[in-house]
Parts: sequence; C-alpha cells; structure tokens
Amino acid sequence: MERLSDWYDHPEYYEAIFGTDTEREMDFVLEVNRRYGTGGKLLLEPACGAGRLVAEAARRGCSVVGYDISEQMLAHARKRLTPAQRRRARLHLSRMETFFQPELEGQVDLAFNLVSTFRYLDSEKAAREHLEGTRRLLKPEGLYVLGFHLTDYERKRPEHERWVERLGKDTVVCNTHEGLPDRRLRRSAMRNRLRITGPEKDLLIETHWYFRTYDLTQARRLFRRAGLEVLAVYDFDYQVDTPRERGEIRLDSIFVLKPAA
Ligand SMILES: C[S@@+](CC[C@H](N)C(=O)[O-])C[C@H]1O[C@@H](n2cnc3c(N)ncnc32)[C@H](O)[C@@H]1O
Repeated sequence: MERLSDWYDHPEYYEAIFGTDTEREMDFVLEVNRRYGTGGKLLLEPACGAGRLVAEAARRGCSVVGYDISEQMLAHARKRLTPAQRRRARLHLSRMETFFQPELEGQVDLAFNLVSTFRYLDSEKAAREHLEGTRRLLKPEGLYVLGFHLTDYERKRPEHERWVERLGKDTVVCNTHEGLPDRRLRRSAMRNRLRITGPEKDLLIETHWYFRTYDLTQARRLFRRAGLEVLAVYDFDYQVDTPRERGEIRLDSIFVLKPAA
C-alpha cells in the first residue's frame, strides 16, 4: 500500500467524496440569494478548493471569483473549467485572512463557504479578519452563506463519519474523525483517511489538522463583532423552505449573513 499525507494534493479523491452534493449546494445558494439577497450574479467563493462550485456557478451563468491557499487545488480548478465557464470565472491564489481585490469592494452579491472550511482559521483574529474582509467586498444587501459544524463542548466521544464512492474502477473510502474539543485552546484534532483501492491501486492518504471550535454563542458573538447580522440558519440538508426555528440548536449549521445596517 502506498501512503501519502495531504488530501488537498489529490483533489480527484477529495472530490469523489465531497463533489456529490455540488448541484444541490448550488441550488441552495442561488435560492438563498433570490429569497434573502440581491439575486445578482457576482459570486465569491473563499477557499474554493478544486473549483467544483465555481464551475457549477459559472455553468449556471454567474460570474464567480474563487480563491484558495493551495496551488494544487487551483490547478485542478483551472483544468476543469470549460472555455465558456472560464470566461465567467476568476481564480486567485490567496488566503481567507487577507484576500482583497479593490475592484470587488462593495460589488459582490453573495459569497459562500459551505463545508466547515471556515474552521481552518485558527484564531479569533484570523476569523474576524476573514469575515470583515468578506463583508467589505459585499454589496450592502449582499450575503455571506457560511456553513460549518458547531461544537458540543460536553461531547464525551470523538465524532466519526464514513463515506464510500466509486471513481471509475476504483473505490474511495473516506473516514473523518474529530477528536474531543479543547475548550480552552478552542480547537479539535482532525484526521481524515482516504483509502483508494482498485485493479491497479492501493493508496492511503492520511491528513491531520486542527479545526477551530465554535458553539452557537461563540459563532454569533464573532459575527456581531465582524459587523454581520444572521438572517437565517439552515441544516446541511439544504432545504431552503425550512430554516431552523429560533432557539433550535443543531450542530451542522449554514448561516445566512448580511452586513449589519
Ligand atoms: C474542505 S476544502 C473545500 C473546498 C471547496 N470550498 C469545496 O467545497 O469543494 C477546504 C479548502 O480550504 C483551503 N484552505 C485551507 N485554509 C485556507 C486559508 N487559510 N485560506 C484559503 N484557503 C484555505 C484548502 O486548500 C482547501 O482547498
């Protein structure tokens, strides 16, 4: 068995697992834009990875700007775009903490960041800089749709999720493990194992990192400090007709945020 250590160096396997919801996610984002936002067509995806959602937004006629810290992920994103999508999409190598483009200031209709990527920002300062920087790019009526898994600090067991998908003749098995949260350091240790097996393949990609932790109070306080108002909260099932009731607490949360007046 061959062993490797960073799943973002191998976007094809990452996307075999996480690419399966792309259309549903984009349906949700565009419907949220129509219901709560401007309905306009300039979108931004911070940490766009290998560009599955950038490509999907461009395919649906949006202009879309994506950026990511990983050159490998961006190379994959550039390769996948058709000529028509390429005319509508711009990709940049940049970080969530610092991304800024003067020509985008106050211009973006909707930014989206869906799959807990926000939790890579490892301090309150970094998270706040990202939110304030993104808010600065939004139109006054623009939205930031931010999805991430909240933390239950009382949890006594690690969390584990497993997915299996086919990629051509290969099978990709993905196991993600989140250790117990450290309330003081505001982080949990993460481990992902991608095992790829097939007629000519036996590969294990094991990735370790830390995710910052937020309970609902910590998340809401950060949004308020960054000048963002919460318009609605959804589950990861992307059912736009059923936002969460006030007071209802679930961990998988998609926040629809708007610049505070
Ligand atoms: C879980 S992937 C999500 C990719 C894409 N948004 C998607 O939904 O398929 C997380 C991405 O965040 C990027 N990333 C991690 N930390 C980052 C940072 N500080 N700034 C920009 N990108 C970052 C990684 O390179 C990776 O491509």
